[in-house]
Amino acid sequence: MKQKIDELLSQANEKIKMVADTKALYDLKVFFLGKQGEVTALMKELGKLPKEERPEWGQKINALKKQISELIDNQHKELELKELNQQIESEKLDLTLPGPQIEQGSRHPLSKVTEEIVEILSRIGFSVRSGPMIEKDWYNFEALNIPKDHPARDMQDTFYITEDHVLRTHTSPIQIHTMENEKPPIRILAPGSVFRCDSDISHSPNFYQIEALVVDQKVSMADLKGTISYFVKEFFGEEIKTRFRPSFFPFTEPSAEVDCSCPICKGKGCRTCKDTGWVEIGGSGLVNPKVFDYVKIDSKQWQGYAFGFGIERMAMIKYGIDDIRLFNENHIDFLKQFQ
Ligand code: PHE
Repeated sequence: MKQKIDELLSQANEKIKMVADTKALYDLKVFFLGKQGEVTALMKELGKLPKEERPEWGQKINALKKQISELIDNQHKELELKELNQQIESEKLDLTLPGPQIEQGSRHPLSKVTEEIVEILSRIGFSVRSGPMIEKDWYNFEALNIPKDHPARDMQDTFYITEDHVLRTHTSPIQIHTMENEKPPIRILAPGSVFRCDSDISHSPNFYQIEALVVDQKVSMADLKGTISYFVKEFFGEEIKTRFRPSFFPFTEPSAEVDCSCPICKGKGCRTCKDTGWVEIGGSGLVNPKVFDYVKIDSKQWQGYAFGFGIERMAMIKYGIDDIRLFNENHIDFLKQFQ
């Protein structure tokens, strides 16, 4: 028994010191102290000894167990420290590496374009008004000289909320609110969200317009053309020309569609202008005296002009964007380009 105990102790001393990692040390622990281990086997042999010798050898085997345990624990601590140092050594932190990229937000391109239009026109005396998105039939149609059953209502695919309430189909009702509430001279801009029952790559059921209204004495078509030409040059570039085509709107007379020479190809012809060299940006005209009658402004004393541009259209033309749906799809790569 004594020989066996001495042998195991010296074997343990030797093997435990030579062990190279915690995994191999664990295997040794099993070898000596595990259920099938050497020390346990020795314990089992106690039974073969005479009864009076058992306590003495029992104590000695326990002492052996304790010694081997301590040897293993000490070696474990040492190995752990060694392994930690190795890990620290191999996983050096590089404090000069850039941190994770956080996407930065930016103004939406439509907000930027709206702000730019407002800024350009406020330089020549326009100031901003707004109105409700749900309008009474009167403001969206009647007072703009679009009576019920008038074919012009078909031009605007209307979302009806009730028989008498609509989602505004244009920003022109803000003309009516302003003329009801303010006395001329009037010089206002009204940007806002409008709704039409229409959807494809160049039409969205919800889009933005910006309306301009001037009411003053001796206002003529020349003032309208001068203002729009100035605006187009400031917004798209000095070399961009403006063209007016006769048109019809019930609330203006005469009326004109506004085109500008294509800022993308400079009038040579491209996809944006469908090879015509010109792109349409909106409608315009002199305020129809019938509208002045509705809002009780004396049309003998006052004249006016108005125009309404599509903000998405202006952004698409300015930046060569070919699908209106991109504005609402929230693609970071698209939005980032306008930072
Ligand atoms: N409200 C018209 C539209 O949406 C545009 C317009 C505004 C035309 C002002 C003339 C004057 O089609």
